[in-house]
Amino acid sequence: MSLQERVTTHFQQLYGEFPAFIVRAPGRVNLIGEHTDYNDGFVLPMAIDRAAWIALRHRDDGRVVLHSLDFDDTLEAELAHLQQSSPDPGEREQSWGEYIKGVAWALQEAGYALQGWEGVVSGDVPIGAGLSSSAALEMAVARTFAAVSALEWDAPRMALLGQRAENAWVGVNSGIMDQMISATGEAGHALLIDCRSLETRSAPLPSDTKVVVLDTSTRRGLVGSAYNERREQCETAARFFGVSALRDVSVDEFEARADELDDVTRRRARHVVTENERTLQAADAMQQGDAARLGHLMNESHRSLRDDFEVSSAALNTIVEIAQGQETCYGARMTGAGFGGCAVALVRAPAAHDFAQSVASQYNDATGLTASVYVCEATDGARVIHPPQ
Ligand code: GLA
Repeated sequence: MSLQERVTTHFQQLYGEFPAFIVRAPGRVNLIGEHTDYNDGFVLPMAIDRAAWIALRHRDDGRVVLHSLDFDDTLEAELAHLQQSSPDPGEREQSWGEYIKGVAWALQEAGYALQGWEGVVSGDVPIGAGLSSSAALEMAVARTFAAVSALEWDAPRMALLGQRAENAWVGVNSGIMDQMISATGEAGHALLIDCRSLETRSAPLPSDTKVVVLDTSTRRGLVGSAYNERREQCETAARFFGVSALRDVSVDEFEARADELDDVTRRRARHVVTENERTLQAADAMQQGDAARLGHLMNESHRSLRDDFEVSSAALNTIVEIAQGQETCYGARMTGAGFGGCAVALVRAPAAHDFAQSVASQYNDATGLTASVYVCEATDGARVIHPPQ
């Protein structure tokens, strides 16, 4: 049964009628442009065929009642009196209902008048794997509120409010990439996103290629503190160059003054400055259908994340090296925040399933760990699936 059927069937069992709306918002994988979003830079992610789904109908008492099939848990919240479940951001991050309330809070704070609703939610974006299950949930909820409250769907604005929910309500200090791609994704394409202007340009996936996500099955705690430390190091470097964000430093400008920086700040800044350049080149390579060039840039990105930005891990390096070693692979790199989670590879389409199997088995031989492997399709961003819009 598809997830759409699952949420619809459960909705009908609970409420005895067909849902008024069915909404879908996807997770994402980033092809290139890592740790650049909070530097006002460029990213090149695609929305994937794994998503959060909500089936729902209106309520006229200003309440949201949502049953999660995945957590077998029901959230009840009053829009006029939203409250955090815990003072501890670490606990809020683990609590699915906080993402729902956080989006409601951010929309109301921005001045939107919200209507209540009730329904059922389920998703198949693996949680904690670096494929943005939380952004998918946030954008599904934002799309739901827009549908029941008859709000105009302004995708970049909604993405910013999803990010605000995550930063200020849940308490996770993330950039704008995940919500932007979940809100604005395009089937068959990655999107070049300018994280300063929020302009997007679609970049077609090269023909006869597939994007494969390789989950190392490792997770590391304390990602938050390492992530915040990287953000601070980038801000220090931006101050040194006298700009508001590293986006404004070109590779030449960086090189001219690099030796005035201490070793760590220099390597952090070098990653961001060169990654922005690689991301723009990757979007051009995609425009030209040049899979080999795109793959080469992904390999360079991994090297930079591993050696200069230092956010990779032994498991990620192992799976990336195994992937890069396959003849049918154009390129591979870690993806997302790092320290564990997933890598992404660009491979020849007809060989994608063989590639996935041999990487998983060689990774198991090398580490004793079991990788999950997803051959992904690029899908549309957050949508009302029913009624057809
Ligand atoms: C996480 C954050 C994003 C981005 C990436 C790194 O996924 O949520 O905003 O910073 O890390 O590129």
